[in-house]
Amino acid sequence: MTRCVRGTCGKPCSRSGGIVLPSGDAPAAPVPDSRTRREFLSKCAGWTLAATVAGYASAAVAYLDPRVLYEPPTQFSIGRPIDFAPGSATFLEEKRLFVFRASEGLYAVSAVCSHLGCNVRWTAAKEDFECPCHGSVYDRQGRVVSGPAPRPLEWYALSCNKSGVVMVDTTKTVAPDFRLRV
Ligand code: FES
Repeated sequence: MTRCVRGTCGKPCSRSGGIVLPSGDAPAAPVPDSRTRREFLSKCAGWTLAATVAGYASAAVAYLDPRVLYEPPTQFSIGRPIDFAPGSATFLEEKRLFVFRASEGLYAVSAVCSHLGCNVRWTAAKEDFECPCHGSVYDRQGRVVSGPAPRPLEWYALSCNKSGVVMVDTTKTVAPDFRLRV
């Protein structure tokens, strides 16, 4: 007894080209359709090509629009003298700078630790600068007292412009006894 693997009739196949199997045997594995496989491989190649082109295109766009890291300005204003109360120590976080107003005038000290660049903290009670990262301590003059810091803190030049606004110039360092008289 045989049955037709094309149709569902279950009867011997009389159609030309029909595949006839002995009854009771498992149906033969389907013959791979070479056209379907060719289409699949063709689509894969197309997607690979499209992904490659997209990769090159995005690299070209990135090249034309470079990511530039701009350096912060080296000269900037920090406000008017009246903004700093007598005896105050003001931390300008964005500028990484302390501005002190002593009886003799204003002065500015960099908050950047000379070890690895963390922000130091001013401790008014001890009158020193302490780095939270590796424990460097600087005295009130910015000199290294202890820790791995290799250099003192930097003191920057201050000036008043024509409008009476205080300007900082971080390209000019000054001695710790510098004061801007206001
Ligand atoms: S960064 Fe300040 S002690 Fe290391």
